[in-house]
Amino acid sequence: MQGDKAEHVHEVFSKIARRYDVMNSVLSFQQHRLWRHFAMRQLPLRRDSKILDVAAGTGAWTFSMAKRLGPKGHVTGLDFTEAMLEVAQERLATCPERDRIDFIHGNAMDLPFEDNQFDIATVGFALRNMPSVEKCLQEMLRVVKPGGVVVSLELSKPDSALFRRLYYFYFYKVLPRIGSLVVKDDAPYSWLPESLIDFPNRHQLEQMFVDLGMTKVKSYPLTMGIAALHIGYKALPGQETM
Ligand SMILES: C[S@@+](CC[C@H](N)C(=O)[O-])C[C@H]1O[C@@H](n2cnc3c(N)ncnc32)[C@H](O)[C@@H]1O
Repeated sequence: MQGDKAEHVHEVFSKIARRYDVMNSVLSFQQHRLWRHFAMRQLPLRRDSKILDVAAGTGAWTFSMAKRLGPKGHVTGLDFTEAMLEVAQERLATCPERDRIDFIHGNAMDLPFEDNQFDIATVGFALRNMPSVEKCLQEMLRVVKPGGVVVSLELSKPDSALFRRLYYFYFYKVLPRIGSLVVKDDAPYSWLPESLIDFPNRHQLEQMFVDLGMTKVKSYPLTMGIAALHIGYKALPGQETM
């Protein structure tokens, strides 16, 4: 089952890689830019931070984090879909911060890094796609240093029942149609709503961060809970978790 999901996700992103960024903006009415901007403001980013962007895709978040870094900072963008990384690499060639960025092929379920390497590990709009949300967060937590931070920006489920109904109509009925018209294939954008069905809501995901032993865990609903930002810190030795 886990392998099946990963294969399916890989196939979906291989198909839409070239249209991913445009579709993101169209389908979210540009909201994703505001969400990323809000997320950036909550990150404890320093000029010399070492950041891992898990499931970086075409690099949207990787590039914006790199802009905030000084010459000693670095962002590694990791993804398992070659077609998404190809787009990221093309952009990298003309990016002024290119010497602070690397893209690598790898699997979020088994990150190819030693423990305690990064100050910050981010995952943007990708936890939903993972065969195991918990395993992905565990891996991110493993590779950040004690005191380092794990961050997820992801679609979520609105708390208000009335708004949820309206939103789900758009998300489950309208969005897949627009998506399939643009990419001329039903599969990729019928996957998008499917991927949210079994995904934990904001409160459940926050509890998952806590249960994994992170400290100072916080979550923020965005645009009435359509998306959510989650942040948790890796405990320092001897520090109580909460
Ligand atoms: C919706 S895109 C998000 C890309 C980017 N983070 C952003 O914010 O635009 C999801 C990405 O997750 C990647 N992905 C899904 N499962 C993965 C896994 N197990 N390991 C690495 N990448 C994965 C896909 O290849 C895809 O590029």
